[in-house]
Amino acid sequence: MKFFVDTADVAAIAELNDLGMVDGVTTNPSLILKSGRDILEVTKEICSIVSGPVSAEVVALTADEMIAEGRKLAEIAPNITVKVPLTWDGLKTCKVLSGEGKMVNVTLCFSVNQALIAAKAGATFISPFVGRLDDINLDGMDLISDIRQVYDNYGFDTQILAASIRSANHVTQCALVGADVMTAPPAVIKALASHPLTDKGLDQFMKDWAKTGQKIV
Ligand code: E4P
Repeated sequence: MKFFVDTADVAAIAELNDLGMVDGVTTNPSLILKSGRDILEVTKEICSIVSGPVSAEVVALTADEMIAEGRKLAEIAPNITVKVPLTWDGLKTCKVLSGEGKMVNVTLCFSVNQALIAAKAGATFISPFVGRLDDINLDGMDLISDIRQVYDNYGFDTQILAASIRSANHVTQCALVGADVMTAPPAVIKALASHPLTDKGLDQFMKDWAKTGQKIV
């Protein structure tokens, strides 16, 4: 499963990238706001760090305007993935831009039918939002699993990019049900290294080592 980082925080991306944890990056208008930076400038900097797909989201609501925005975003770097919302205009945009050879990530997906039509419109990635479904008492992971089954039934090559990932358990479940990619905030990716028995074991080793009075270097 590929790991994308869900942030526009350049320092956090660079830290994880140095560890080989970054196969790509996703951003959205809320994350650009949080960064406090200009979208074109920060996205260009991210693309200079990460060689995998970097999603940059359009903000227009009509297809013609989304296409214009998508073309401008795609000029930033060859690894830009144009992110469009799962609306009828977003799907029109997906069809046009994917026809031009650009990568397209169709976002704000909350149903199997939405994932099905995004694949038919040529999406490179479909982004079902796991956490936001969990927030309204539905099972976001069931959606990932159902899309996996439908895409496999018909051989769609659109990649399932599990989004709105909020916990280490979400990451485990995504890997178990076969998501192609998961995108998570840096804190969730860092939390994957944590286990209370690791902490407990290390604490005991340190106490015993101190009693030996030895040094390695
Ligand atoms: C990424 O593509 C999505 O925009 C993001 O994962 C949404 O996450 P959230 O529901 O935690 O805001």
